[in-house]
Amino acid sequence: MPIQDECFYVRNMACTFLRRSDGCLVISGREALELRRADAAIVAELIRLASVPLSGSELRRGASKLENGPAVLEALAKAGCLTEGRTLDALEAKSSPRLKARGQPPLGNVVFGLTGAVASAYMLPSIARLQPFARRIDVVVTRAARPFVAPAAFEAHGIQVWGSASARRGEVRVPHIELADTADLVVVCPASAHAIARLAQGACSDLVSLVVTATRAPVIVVPSMNEAMWDHPAVQRNVARIVADGVHVVEPHRGLEVAWLARGEPPRLGFGTQGLLDGAMLATLTAVAAGKPRTREVSRE
Ligand SMILES: Cc1cc2nc3c(=O)[nH]c(=O)nc-3n(C[C@H](O)[C@H](O)[C@H](O)COP(=O)(O)O)c2cc1C
Repeated sequence: MPIQDECFYVRNMACTFLRRSDGCLVISGREALELRRADAAIVAELIRLASVPLSGSELRRGASKLENGPAVLEALAKAGCLTEGRTLDALEAKSSPRLKARGQPPLGNVVFGLTGAVASAYMLPSIARLQPFARRIDVVVTRAARPFVAPAAFEAHGIQVWGSASARRGEVRVPHIELADTADLVVVCPASAHAIARLAQGACSDLVSLVVTATRAPVIVVPSMNEAMWDHPAVQRNVARIVADGVHVVEPHRGLEVAWLARGEPPRLGFGTQGLLDGAMLATLTAVAAGKPRTREVSRE
């Protein structure tokens, strides 16, 4: 599809550009495109130009300043290296959440609860990607989550990690009340079976269950565990309990079962947070924070 002057474009983050001694290899979901050496520098310029959303006419103008720029631009568009939207909003909705959100951040203050499910080890990139859309993000961890979470890495992103109900910092004297009171949304992701049991009891025996019990904000729980654990009647009882209490529980999605990898056995699918981490996180959090979607009867006709 040729570049349209009135549409908007941004670099498709799913494309990789490999600069090599003999040229440039563009790897997109659709194809691998080889460009000659002279065009490698043009690709670099165009990709830098398209790292922020631009109209088709602005993009063409930029390309026309480079020798062979227009032809390389069309080749990149044809290979699927640019995401297109009829309006800026449509483009933002389609493209990576790395694009800066405009206006008020839709998520407000978000508190993430990380538990002793191994998926806690993969949470930093997913949480950091939400930063442009939240006013503030805090992370609370259970004792069992600590081996899977590197606080320094979160703190390097400006995200504070809280591990103890008695840890005072600056103005914050009672962390669970401060975090619970100021939260617009609490997300327990990943939620271990043990953490779900404590939430079902209102146990308040650790910082995650304390914040969940003390907040008036909506709560999302994203279970992550072995499939047999998920099927256990005790776990299902606890899940039903928290749903009845008003918690939003995300249905587990199939992902890699870590215990099988550790045993040196062929990869197997287990139950976890994968679907959410792979891209649906922002949409899910935004819908719940906005109080949507409302329950709707499905027609039984
Ligand atoms: C390597 C490892 C991985 C684990 N992964 C999970 C998991 O994915 N889901 C789960 O429910 N429990 C998992 N557990 C067990 C929890 O860590 C254990 O039940 C713990 O008590 C959970 O504590 P928390 O809910 O207070 O964080 C795992 C344990 C280990 C040692």
